[in-house]
Amino acid sequence: MSESDHNLLRRADIEATRRPFAEARPLAGPPYRDPRIFAAEVETLFLKMWLCVGHQSLLGSSGDYLMREIGDESVIVTRGDDGSIRAFYNVCRHRGTRLLDDAAGTGLNCIRCPYHSWTYGLDGSLIAAPLMDEVEGFDKADYGLTPVRCETWNGFVFVSFDPDAAALSGCLADFPDLSRFGIERLGLGATHEYELAANWKLVCENYGECYHCPTNHPQLNPVSHYRSGGDSFQGEYFCGGPMRLNDGCATMTMSGQTNREPIKGLDPDDLRLVQYFNIYPGFLLSLHPDYVLTHTIWPLAADRSVIRCEWLFAPEAMERDDFDPSDAVDFWHLTNEQDWAICERAQKGVRSRGYRPGRYHGLEETIYFFDNWYLRSMETPLLRNCDGDSG
Ligand code: FES
Ligand SMILES: [Fe+2]
Repeated sequence: MSESDHNLLRRADIEATRRPFAEARPLAGPPYRDPRIFAAEVETLFLKMWLCVGHQSLLGSSGDYLMREIGDESVIVTRGDDGSIRAFYNVCRHRGTRLLDDAAGTGLNCIRCPYHSWTYGLDGSLIAAPLMDEVEGFDKADYGLTPVRCETWNGFVFVSFDPDAAALSGCLADFPDLSRFGIERLGLGATHEYELAANWKLVCENYGECYHCPTNHPQLNPVSHYRSGGDSFQGEYFCGGPMRLNDGCATMTMSGQTNREPIKGLDPDDLRLVQYFNIYPGFLLSLHPDYVLTHTIWPLAADRSVIRCEWLFAPEAMERDDFDPSDAVDFWHLTNEQDWAICERAQKGVRSRGYRPGRYHGLEETIYFFDNWYLRSMETPLLRNCDGDSG
């Protein structure tokens, strides 16, 4: 193989990940490092599937907005004067200029293009266009912002750039019922944004196993033992599994204790578990007895990703004078930093032409689910990057 060929995927490597779990091998190197495969992932996965932009409490009031970027696309999500959440391409209808730059903001009355000041309402309608009344036949009603599909699920706001995408509720029809958590009524306690030099799939895979926990997270074992995982499971667009809190521990904090009550309405089992879900392509949802943690992954390049975290709490807890989310935030911020460091280190290894995939441990079954979903979804573009070698 010549030097330039080391990003070609071998068919045999794809087949090795597809074998029954006990015999399968993890993904080979090219999907973690080849910019052509990355571009195909953006087109095939991120611009076709539903992407969670955050919990609806980030858009609590009229004028609140979010902006997210993926590939060449950028989407604005607004809460309008009528209370509705809508999404639009971040693209002016005059000559295409990018409209908003910040990932989030409040108090937006309208969206004004910095180029010639065409101005849009929060519902996307064009409300002002200087001098355009001089243009014969120009009707503002024809030049509203281009909509992006937007739906909510359990209080989370999702967008899809694909006008033909199946409804979100249908995509997640086989997802376990979470209504007892009342996630839509939770409030935002904290957010954190990270940027790391690692492929988005390494972050998903790292989230899917606790085999790395004894080596990387000394604070975790005293609260939830790394072998306490229950059966892992998968659906069409997700995988996941629960882990048990150690006896005497009420939640995931440094001490395993907190002054917050569990979320009302949970089953007795929920009080003993942390339930982890990866909703493809990059929405990580972690349900604790007293809070919900989310990570949304926004790939920038084959070897760079932005990750946004939200910590969500019950309104009863947030109303208390002594409400303090820092026990949950500090625990997971430390865990995140440890995870990002090991993901960046993994990226340095898998980018090498010397990387040969080993084997999965039994604790890594959800990674096998994720990797096989990835190979199924990316089959066509990946085969274009294959060398045709079957050996
Ligand atoms: S490009 Fe936006 S107003 Fe001209
Ligand atoms: Fe970890």
